[in-house]
Amino acid sequence: MVVMIPKVHKAVFPAAGLGTRFLPATKAMPKEMLPLVDKPLIQYGVEEAIHSGIQNIIIVTGRGKTAIEDHFDVSFELEQTLEAKGKKDLLAIVRNVSDMINVAYVRQKEALGLGHAVLRVKELVGNEPFAVVLSDDVIDSEIPAIRQLLDVYEFYGASVVALMEVPGDAISSYGAVDAEPVSHNSGKDRLFRIRNMVEKPKPSDAPSNLAIIGRYVLTPDVFASIEAIEPGSGGEIQLTDALKHLLKNRPIYGYRFEGTRYDAGDKLGFLKATVEFALRRYDLGGEFRAYLKQLKL
Ligand code: G1P
Repeated sequence: MVVMIPKVHKAVFPAAGLGTRFLPATKAMPKEMLPLVDKPLIQYGVEEAIHSGIQNIIIVTGRGKTAIEDHFDVSFELEQTLEAKGKKDLLAIVRNVSDMINVAYVRQKEALGLGHAVLRVKELVGNEPFAVVLSDDVIDSEIPAIRQLLDVYEFYGASVVALMEVPGDAISSYGAVDAEPVSHNSGKDRLFRIRNMVEKPKPSDAPSNLAIIGRYVLTPDVFASIEAIEPGSGGEIQLTDALKHLLKNRPIYGYRFEGTRYDAGDKLGFLKATVEFALRRYDLGGEFRAYLKQLKL
């Protein structure tokens, strides 16, 4: 019997967090709109979804996040002005993303955790697998990170989380996994079958230095698990705890993705991403490199 593995059509972007790490910049502006060079963080994630073959975007927002909705909407006045001035290249940039996606918004009334945010999309997602993208984690890779997870999902038909090794005590800022390597594409160092997971463990309690990074492909049974769990780390409903609950009945895989991840939710990570992305830009890279070189560091 051939078992059909349902396709992933939707990507969910939790974006209701308060952005306290970037205050005061995020007092009146969503952290998802902080620009890396000239593109808001969330647009990097949305473009990654598009390049992975997903056009249906669901953004979980909260109060003070209307700038995100405006960003992915048509900006009639701006487009008319650019058109009148003959600025075709800018017009294309402005139109590009909103033309490529169908976007829906769901409101998370209180910031009660990542699991709680994901549960908000239960009705919109329905009985389908879906991707989750945390836009703080910007991943630069040849094959989009979501695509890498989808390839695993499409093979096993089970939930997959992105994994990365982190140094020393850093693991206590992440969900950590206990996982056993699985042979995949003739290699044994990328795919893991997860045995257990812990959200933000003390370094001494961490099962490994393999951290969950903000990309997930989830089967819809995760919703029942989110509903079944109690608040965990930080008093919040954690997605990691829901996945641990799901693990009792379903296999879950972890994939150590290929690429470079920037923690753009952290000031230093954000600065590193800004510098590296600017250096790679054809229109800025040369001059910016020359500027950096002459700094007396
Ligand atoms: C969230 C998840 C955590 C994961 C991290 C990746 O934590 O809860 O499991 O490791 O994203 O960035 P947050 O960074 O929102 O505290």
